[in-house]
Amino acid sequence: MPQHVQGVIAPGRNEPVRVETIVIPDPGPGEAVVKIQACGVCHTDLHYKQGAINDEFPFLLGHEAAGIVESVGEGVTDVTPGDFVVLNWRAVCGTCRACERGRPWYCFATHNAKQKMTLLDGTELSPALGIGAFAEKTLVAAGQCTKVDPTVAPEVAGLLGCGVMAGIGAAINTGNVGRGDTVAVIGCGGVGDAAIVGSRLAGAAKIIAVDIDDRKLDKAREMGATHTVNSRSSDAVEAIRELTGGFGADVVIEAVGRPETYEQAFYARDLAGTVVLVGVPSPEMKLELPLLDVFGRGGALKSSWYGDCLPSRDFPMLIDLHQQGRIDLAAFVTETIGLGDVEKAFARMHEGDVLRSVVVL
Ligand code: APR
Ligand code: ZN
Ligand code: ZN
Repeated sequence: MPQHVQGVIAPGRNEPVRVETIVIPDPGPGEAVVKIQACGVCHTDLHYKQGAINDEFPFLLGHEAAGIVESVGEGVTDVTPGDFVVLNWRAVCGTCRACERGRPWYCFATHNAKQKMTLLDGTELSPALGIGAFAEKTLVAAGQCTKVDPTVAPEVAGLLGCGVMAGIGAAINTGNVGRGDTVAVIGCGGVGDAAIVGSRLAGAAKIIAVDIDDRKLDKAREMGATHTVNSRSSDAVEAIRELTGGFGADVVIEAVGRPETYEQAFYARDLAGTVVLVGVPSPEMKLELPLLDVFGRGGALKSSWYGDCLPSRDFPMLIDLHQQGRIDLAAFVTETIGLGDVEKAFARMHEGDVLRSVVVL
């Protein structure tokens, strides 16, 4: 029997979001219905509301979520009702060239639930990032569910569905930060701070946080940065070189997504160092570099796709580390809110003191 639940809808471009009744079908083959317990508010949800991602309104927002599997469709064996899971954006196929090469984060044939969730009048909803979890329940492909330790707080587990995983993964998976490395992180929002947590976890000796906002730098220090640079008042590249004996950092992680910070990241790395690009630029942005610098500095420029994570390996691992007190993921949760407060949370994002508002159900 299809179920009626409450969910947060973005009805049209820049229109305020609102809570509406939505219809969730029974899970079909390969699908699961998940009872949502927590879902973080991310910039991407705001971008959907603004029509910056596509025009497929109305959206069912929310995508950084954890909850309990309620029911599964035919052929689902990896998760069963009652499992506590973190959701990810896409189920991977397991058989394409990228999957076979062990890089499933580049999978060519990812999928979400085939059936649609709707409004009461039958209007089909577009779930944000194939999830739609600002809702009491949502329908996903079973492969989007990853089982984790059920004793963790849901608002902490859900963080791994997006920005926090992207940042930690940028450090430990893409950047291969190692014991004793020097790391610079440019841009200390949720993603940059997570990169700091990941770098510390990997044993970095020096973690230099760079931002244009002193409040972000204070928070970065709490997250594990050993040095901070305000790049509004000083030259980021010079400052990073000075703090690394004149060389530059072994790994520089860019978590802003702008040409000037991409350029800073490029020049702030040591010869043969690694630049990890996790900040997402917009389509019109360009970067011009002297080819001799590209050639001569060696090392690697790598972009990081959702932290190049393997959910089945990384989600349970990071939750175990949190439960053991070896990383503090709860530090990313600034406030917990209700389904009706998402619009307010969007407004607060610009105030600069929020890492994550998390809807708790
Ligand atoms: N130099 C340094 N820091 C900057 C600059 C700049 N020129 N411009 C902005 N920042 C800082 C902001 O002050 C803020 O602390 O970058 C940080 C960006 O943080 P958020 O807006 O909270 O974004 P976040 O969620 O962390 O995502 C960062 O990663 O995954 C991508 O799409 C995401 O491109 C985005 C980036
Ligand atoms: Zn997100
Ligand atoms: Zn694949």
